[in-house]
Amino acid sequence: MPEDEGIEIAFAGRSNAGKSSALNALTRQKRLAKTSSTPGRTQLINVFNVTDDVRLIDLPGYGYAKVPIAVRNKWQKALGEYLQARACLKGLVVLMDIRHPLKDLDQQMLGWAAESGLQILVALTKADKLSQSERSKTLRKVREACLYFGENVEVIAFSSTRGFGLPEMESVITRWCTE
Ligand code: GTP
Ligand code: MG
Repeated sequence: MPEDEGIEIAFAGRSNAGKSSALNALTRQKRLAKTSSTPGRTQLINVFNVTDDVRLIDLPGYGYAKVPIAVRNKWQKALGEYLQARACLKGLVVLMDIRHPLKDLDQQMLGWAAESGLQILVALTKADKLSQSERSKTLRKVREACLYFGENVEVIAFSSTRGFGLPEMESVITRWCTE
């Protein structure tokens, strides 16, 4: 990892939630972060320099049962160490498939991040998979549920393929980096 200075914004979420795709959409690059239809694709902490001061961090996904226990433990350890020890970590984008939001591990992640005083953006990914009305309904429900984690949590619907929520994600991250 680079020196613990400047600002880092990390992308966390279950395996296959769409973290790497979101990073590519955000940076307007097709293959910056490797994406895959096979869960468990991102196995290391990947660092992308945006400016001299700002880095985006693609974290390994959690909750994928088919990864061998030893490998899973190794990632979990790396993930825990990163999240707990990183002083320059300013905000966490927690990505969840809009069709399966707020699973146990997502709630654990949100609870932990809220306790640590991080800024949190929940991005409900693959929003293109739902109709407009289903999307609004889920968004409302998740916003309500996230009140539990405090005032630092914002929730948006997002789609890497269609660009939904991309301007919102950009403006939230820009705000985190400049305040
Ligand atoms: P791991 O690295 O394994 O934890 O996965 P990840 O969270 O980085 O997911 P990734 O970006 O690799 O995407 C997983 C799958 O979901 C790929 O097949 C993507 O093409 C698909 N996907 C990602 N974002 C979207 C989206 O907004 N809409 C649709 N329809 N598919 C998406
Ligand atoms: Mg990935």
